[in-house]
Amino acid sequence: MSAKGIILAGGKGTRLYPMTSIISKQLQPVYDKPMIYYPLATLMLAGIQDILLISTPEDIPRFEALLGDGSRWGISINYCVQERPEGLPQAYLLGESFIDGNQSALILGDNLFYGKLDFFRKGLENTDGGTIFAYRVENPSAYGVVEFDSDYKVVSIEEKPQKPKSNFAIPGLYIFDSDVCELAKSLKPSARGELEITDVHKHYLNQNKLNVVQIGRGIAWLDTGTPENLIEAGTFIMAIEKRQGTKIACLEEIALMQGFISKSEFLNTVDALPNCDYKNYCLKILE
Ligand code: G1P
Repeated sequence: MSAKGIILAGGKGTRLYPMTSIISKQLQPVYDKPMIYYPLATLMLAGIQDILLISTPEDIPRFEALLGDGSRWGISINYCVQERPEGLPQAYLLGESFIDGNQSALILGDNLFYGKLDFFRKGLENTDGGTIFAYRVENPSAYGVVEFDSDYKVVSIEEKPQKPKSNFAIPGLYIFDSDVCELAKSLKPSARGELEITDVHKHYLNQNKLNVVQIGRGIAWLDTGTPENLIEAGTFIMAIEKRQGTKIACLEEIALMQGFISKSEFLNTVDALPNCDYKNYCLKILE
């Protein structure tokens, strides 16, 4: 049974106000596509075809209008309303029946990965326990932080520490077995009033069931929470796309390459697009 994918695209995006006053953060453009295309592409590139998108009551209809049921990309997208954002592990409470005893990969709707995703595909091969990732950043205090000893054994995991014990942040991409649903029910809100994903990590760590994989510098992990981050991510995508003449997170292309849709299904999907650069790019792929 292949893993299920969950995209958590809730929250108020207050750091991006007033841009987010009427449209959610994860629908803002990152260069030439809505932000949500990027995490969706990440899941698809790992072979995940059964996806649950969780968002606010106001935004769910917009995501549905944009992505539909996913069938044009050979995937299935279900939607789930999160009435109030009460922390990342809420995804496992809301998604329990969707997960249905399977392994799942949870990705945050504002986390963008670029590069060879072997680390993610490999993580999915470990179906017992959990796999999270560690990525070196300059300012780790904005994230969950993991500390290693000299043998790369995990020593501590902390959520947004003021004095981080290492430069290794934990990206918003988490793979867990189905035990995570029961575990989420036992969590208590932290001082900031939310269930913390780092408490999930710590629980798996204490059980000796947490794999923490370092992602090398050849991968770009970007987040898009502030206006600066958003424009940096957009500029990064633009630089690579313009230089290579390719598109990052083109869902039609990924669906075709992954064998999720046939060539004729691809052509039908692309045919329905209005005349634009994106469509021209899709048509060029077949040449
Ligand atoms: C969340 C998690 C944090 C993680 C980060 C990745 O933070 O709580 O552990 O490192 O996502 O983007 P938040 O987005 O809630 O600030």
